[in-house]
Amino acid sequence: MSVNVDNVNISSDLCGINLKNPTVLASGILGLSMDLLKRLAGAGSGALTIKSITNAQRKGHDNPTVIAYEAGMLNAVGYSNPGAVAAAQEFSDLASLPVPVFASVVGQTPEEFATAAERLMQCDFAALEVPLSCPHTPGYGTLAGHGTPEATEEITRAVCGVTDKPVFVKLSPNVPAIGELALAALEGGAGGITAVNSMGPGMLIDIDARRPVLDFGSGGVSGPALRPVALRCVYDVHKAIRDAGRTAPVIGVGGVACGEHAMQMIQAGASAVGVGTAVYQRGPRVFGTIARELKEICCRLNADNLRDMIGAAHE
Ligand SMILES: Cc1cc2nc3c(=O)[nH]c(=O)nc-3n(C[C@H](O)[C@H](O)[C@H](O)COP(=O)(O)O)c2cc1C
Repeated sequence: MSVNVDNVNISSDLCGINLKNPTVLASGILGLSMDLLKRLAGAGSGALTIKSITNAQRKGHDNPTVIAYEAGMLNAVGYSNPGAVAAAQEFSDLASLPVPVFASVVGQTPEEFATAAERLMQCDFAALEVPLSCPHTPGYGTLAGHGTPEATEEITRAVCGVTDKPVFVKLSPNVPAIGELALAALEGGAGGITAVNSMGPGMLIDIDARRPVLDFGSGGVSGPALRPVALRCVYDVHKAIRDAGRTAPVIGVGGVACGEHAMQMIQAGASAVGVGTAVYQRGPRVFGTIARELKEICCRLNADNLRDMIGAAHE
C-alpha cells in the first residue's frame, strides 16, 4: 500500500524532547533575541538554538565578519554576544514560544563553560548545546584544543554537573576521528551529539585591497561546500555510537537547504537536522519547505514514519 503524505509522521525525539518536525535553527543564525526566535518558530522550525553565549559580554571580531561566496559562507564572528546575565534576561520567557529552544554556551575553561551554563539554564531551555568546535576564535573551540577526546570529556562533565537538561556536544569536522570525540562526549555525560560546526578555517582575498576579505583573516566555511563533509561526519558519529553499543541522537548540521539534503542527513544517522546558512540564502521559510519536502520524500520511499529512516544508509 502506498503512503499518503498526510499520514507521514516526521516528528523527532531528541532525548525526550519532542519536535513536530526535525528541523532545528543552527546556533549563531539570528538567534540573539526573542523577537527573532518568534519569527523563526512561526516559519515552521521544529526547534531553535540560540547564538552561543559566553559568561562575560564579548565584542567579537571586527567587521567584515561574514561573507557569502559561490559555495556558501565564510564567517569569523568571534562569539560576539551580550554575556550570560543579559542573555538570561532576554530569554526569560521561553514558555511563550511554540517550539523547544536549545541554549548554547562556550568558554575558555571547563569552569567558564559551567558558569555560563548554570546562569543560562535558569531559563526554560529544553536542552543545552556545547560547541567545542569553533575554528576562528582564539581561546575557544579548536584553536584552544577543545577538540581532543580528553578536553571533550572534561568540558562535557563540567556542564553536565550544572544542569539536568540533555546536553548536546557540538563537534568540529576538522578532526581525524570524529567518532572518538562523540564517544568521549557521551562518556562525559552528553545526551546527544551535534555534528558539525563550520569547517576550516578558510580564506577569501580581496585582490584590490590585497588582503583577506574578513577582518580576522580566516573564518569557518558553511553551506553547500560543507555538506558532504558534514554528512560523512554524521555517518561516522552514528556508526561509532552504534558500534560502541550505545544509543544517542545526532543533530546533523552542514549545508542542509532542502528535504533531499535533510533526508541524506537522516539516513546517515541524524535524528534532526540543523539549518544555518540556508536561512540566509532562502529565508526563514526554508524550515517549512524542508518539512514539507521530507514528507513527500517519505511517501516516495514508502515510509510512514521518518524515524524508520534514521541510519538507513548503514544497513
Ligand atoms: C554567521 C554564523 C555564525 C555562527 N555562529 C555560531 C555560534 O555562535 N555557535 C555555534 O555553535 N555555531 C555557530 N555557527 C555554525 C553553525 O551553527 C553551523 O554549525 C554551521 O554554519 C554549518 O551549518 P550550515 O552549513 O547549515 O550553515 C555559525 C555559523 C554562521 C554562518
